[in-house]
Amino acid sequence: IRKRLFTTTVQMNIVKKLTVIGGGLMGSGIAQVAAQTGHNVTLVDLSPQILNRAVKQIDLSLTKVAKTLYRDNSVEADQFIYASKDRLKVSTDASKAVEDSDLVIEAIVESIDAKHALFKILDEAAPPKTIFASNTSSLNISEIAAPVKRKDRFGGMHFFSPVPVMKLLEVIRTPDTSEEAHNKMMACGRAMKKVCIACKDTPGFIVNRLLLPYMSEAMKMLERGDATPQDIDLAMKLGAGYPMGPFELADYVGNDISLAVLQTWNRKYPNDPAFQVSGVLKKLVQENKLGCKTGEGFYKYSK
Ligand code: NAI
Repeated sequence: IRKRLFTTTVQMNIVKKLTVIGGGLMGSGIAQVAAQTGHNVTLVDLSPQILNRAVKQIDLSLTKVAKTLYRDNSVEADQFIYASKDRLKVSTDASKAVEDSDLVIEAIVESIDAKHALFKILDEAAPPKTIFASNTSSLNISEIAAPVKRKDRFGGMHFFSPVPVMKLLEVIRTPDTSEEAHNKMMACGRAMKKVCIACKDTPGFIVNRLLLPYMSEAMKMLERGDATPQDIDLAMKLGAGYPMGPFELADYVGNDISLAVLQTWNRKYPNDPAFQVSGVLKKLVQENKLGCKTGEGFYKYSK
């Protein structure tokens, strides 16, 4: 039955050929999930070395997914891994990769200049049918789309880390995104087995617009000496039912990432108190206490 369902999904996918640009944490996860849900996908990055690393990461992750899906059947698990890998190609040539793409998902570094330079090239190289989506967390989708002519076929597809595990996909439309392009992005997200929600092009969309100010407010409580990180985290877990407290979450996300996002928004909306940066966050980043990834943030972690 599983096999039959899987085949049906493959046949129903609206987006047949997908290109993911950027093979880091997010791009490799997006390419993996696309391939394992029946899409032909090309993953693009700057060098073969980076792509090798991405493919190794995808292999490891596919093995884990196969174990969960086909616990008692190693033949089916192997078939799943083989078929998924067979649908995944890699390339260092973005222009060539998008030549016959239905959808391009961009997941390169969070820099507006880098994204502009890339999309200018892609707009020339891709056929008119191709829809462009950015996976940006903190930049404005309309701003990323500025140098592109196909503004009606440009939107956001914001995945969450780790992509193979997290169910949510925020699908962002700008005032220029056509109904048809938006519907195709939603359909592709669903075909990738994500739960899709529609968002407008506002800072942080939905999840980060609520999470970042929430973590900031907890940091301001700490600065005022209102309570300890341990007590604030316990309060939110036991009193509000959150799976992680704000300081645990900040350490998981990375204090450098939260700082960069808040500073981007603060520069753009200096009068909005929700985007003000707390001193304690700046200090931790200066001291390279970035959270779980460096072994220390608000808490200490054994490596
Ligand atoms: P990363 O640093 O792990 O990967 C970025 C990759 O892009 C690198 O492999 C780099 O070599 C490649 N790259 C840079 N310029 C390129 C170009 N012109 N052409 C092709 N490849 C290029 O970054 P990460 O964390 O995967 O983030 C990527 C995007 O996803 C960013 O826009 C970020 O805001 C967004 N995002 C990140 C999340 C996270 O939890 N890290 C969550 C959701 C979105």
